[in-house]
Amino acid sequence: MTRSDEAVAYRGPLLPGTVEDLVELNALDLDCDERLWVPQAPDVSFRPLLFAVSQGYFVNILRVRRSGILSRHRHAGPVHATTLRGRWHYLEHDWWAEQGSYAFEPPGDIHTLEVPDGVAEMVTLFHVTGAYIYVDPDGNPTGVEDVFSKLDNARRHYERVGLGADFADRFVR
Ligand SMILES: [Fe+2]
Repeated sequence: MTRSDEAVAYRGPLLPGTVEDLVELNALDLDCDERLWVPQAPDVSFRPLLFAVSQGYFVNILRVRRSGILSRHRHAGPVHATTLRGRWHYLEHDWWAEQGSYAFEPPGDIHTLEVPDGVAEMVTLFHVTGAYIYVDPDGNPTGVEDVFSKLDNARRHYERVGLGADFADRFVR
């Protein structure tokens, strides 16, 4: 590359099969329009950033405003967790997810998420491939959640709050 080429944008054809890029401004503005937060359970909601239906994963910000056990689950794929507010941990591990921390949860790990007393709000950016398989203490499946159930949930919520079900589709790739 010569110096004169450096500031020239790529001018070739789009590569075949490339999907449209996606940019969410103010993604980390946690005090955004409350309607963006999709209720998932009492005092638990999520804000979608990407529903990668073609790749079987999703990226979302989970917000929990209660203490106690959130869920026990098994992961069918890798999970990346960046904690933005508060702290939480898994009963099965001795590490804590603290504000500003990053954690990798390997496929196959089975763990029970607890938000400790005294944490009014926990907010974590999760990148989740595959599925959450909710299990009882012996590992027997009791439920499942994946990019498709999350998208379905978001579509119904955005319809209910007046943004329209289509609002969720802008996060789909
Ligand atoms: Fe997990």
